[in-house]
Amino acid sequence: MNREDMKRAAALAALDYIKPGMIVGVGTGSTANYFIDGLVGLKDRIAGAVASSAASAERLEQHGITVLELNEVGLLPIYADGADEADASLRLIKGGGGSLTREKIVAAASRKFICIVDETKQVEALGAVPLPVEVIPMARRYVSDALTALGGRPAVRKGFVTDNGNLILDVSNLPIIDPAQMEAELDHIPGVVCNGLFARRPADMVLVGTSSGVQTLT
Ligand code: 5RP
Repeated sequence: MNREDMKRAAALAALDYIKPGMIVGVGTGSTANYFIDGLVGLKDRIAGAVASSAASAERLEQHGITVLELNEVGLLPIYADGADEADASLRLIKGGGGSLTREKIVAAASRKFICIVDETKQVEALGAVPLPVEVIPMARRYVSDALTALGGRPAVRKGFVTDNGNLILDVSNLPIIDPAQMEAELDHIPGVVCNGLFARRPADMVLVGTSSGVQTLT
């Protein structure tokens, strides 16, 4: 099994948790795309989907799946999305695709957050990948300096603007000893919209595509 097969297997395993009539929260990225493609087979049995990005909304619509606004729906029963890293406590780093803010909102508004990853995303400690931080453009320098003071090395993601019209700083080298504490600390820097640590609201379940099948972590 190659990596794409493992991503697909995890994504398709998440379909088993969808019940008739549900409105399904849908994430962003290549693994989430496999989930969207699999959702087509259930499209006549679900009430619609809420997307965490414009790209996923477009893919859902192309597949003929009804896309609803989170404001119309309120709470969602289920949300499936990928991640860049997942630890054994189901805490995540997300935002490789730059959709972290909307992803965090949809995760917060969902009763069950199923994270779908291939085995390369499993880590003992979060932070090997740069941590994405969404920043209001006029605060770029201020936030960069604040992140540097915390020990990080921020780099502006070149040529990228989020669905919310903001910038992404990808921060390497940040000492993430306590992910929930760091998540809160970063969110308190003026100009930060959101950061890619999902520790205060971790996943409820991680489905890991491995070379020997899909493992379920709860
Ligand atoms: C997008 C994300 C993605 O879920 C994350 O980057 C994983 O992407 P992929 O499934 O393509 O590896 O957080 O903002």
